[in-house]
Amino acid sequence: MQHWHILGAGAIGGLFATLLQDAGTPCTLLLRDNDPDLVAGNACITLRRGEQLHRHRFAVSACSDRSPVAHLLVCTKACDIVPAIAAVGHRLVPGATVLLLANGLGYQDQVRGRWPQLDCFAGSTTEGAFREARRSICHAGHGSTLVGQPGRAAAPDWFTTWRELPISCEWSADIDTVLWRKLAINCAINPVTALHHCPNGALAERPDLAALVRELCTEIRAVAIAAGQEQAVRDLHPQVMTVIRATASNRSSMLQDVLAGRATEIDYLTGYLLAQAQRFGLEAPWNATLLAAVKALTAGPAPS
Ligand code: PAF
Repeated sequence: MQHWHILGAGAIGGLFATLLQDAGTPCTLLLRDNDPDLVAGNACITLRRGEQLHRHRFAVSACSDRSPVAHLLVCTKACDIVPAIAAVGHRLVPGATVLLLANGLGYQDQVRGRWPQLDCFAGSTTEGAFREARRSICHAGHGSTLVGQPGRAAAPDWFTTWRELPISCEWSADIDTVLWRKLAINCAINPVTALHHCPNGALAERPDLAALVRELCTEIRAVAIAAGQEQAVRDLHPQVMTVIRATASNRSSMLQDVLAGRATEIDYLTGYLLAQAQRFGLEAPWNATLLAAVKALTAGPAPS
């Protein structure tokens, strides 16, 4: 029997916890040592779909506890993944299954490098879920979830449970392409919206921002192709415009982070892209400008 532990029970982590629990798979939320739900010994997540509310009660466990973890789903922000896994590192059994479901690239290699004994998988999801309150999630729209492991064609046994979830959840024999495509789209949209404090749709409506998105796409394509990821950036600009129009009224995840004064995922999006550009001797000046500007936005006040 699989028993999944969830690190990062926000919108996506909470959604998958409820889906797995409904499918009969035990799930435990891993909480920081000071989380008030640890006192109660359990946590309730309310999931809203339209008018319908579903309440789910979960077992909870402090990261610092000692009971073993064999299946770990990590849904934190990209910048929190390595420290979050480090906080439960002592509990992970050798060969534990770890599924990283987050935006960006770069942390997958960091995790594999630091914990080579783990069986690490990566995924990307477009399920439309957002947090309405601390443990209340709205599942606003269906998307698709792809999971894979670089170089692995066939899904492992544990994935049977995931494939049967009542959402579109498939194994990808080419997860690198999936992650690169998502990275490319995020790099073209998120930093621009974060800097201009605008919804995604403004990137199609404002000619100056539309022109910037086009320049970014040209640079992103060149870097991806140099990195051997041509398939991921085929038709990148039209794809980006489709996402912008489909999510016109949304605030990107990076804009939400900036508005809330939180750290952004820029190092694992544009930062990763620029590291690749440097590796292949390419310039990507529009992306470099955005990286610096977003970092300046969230750097906090200069020391006096
Ligand atoms: O990160 C995000 O906000 C989304 O993935 C998307 C659609 C690229 C921008 O809203």
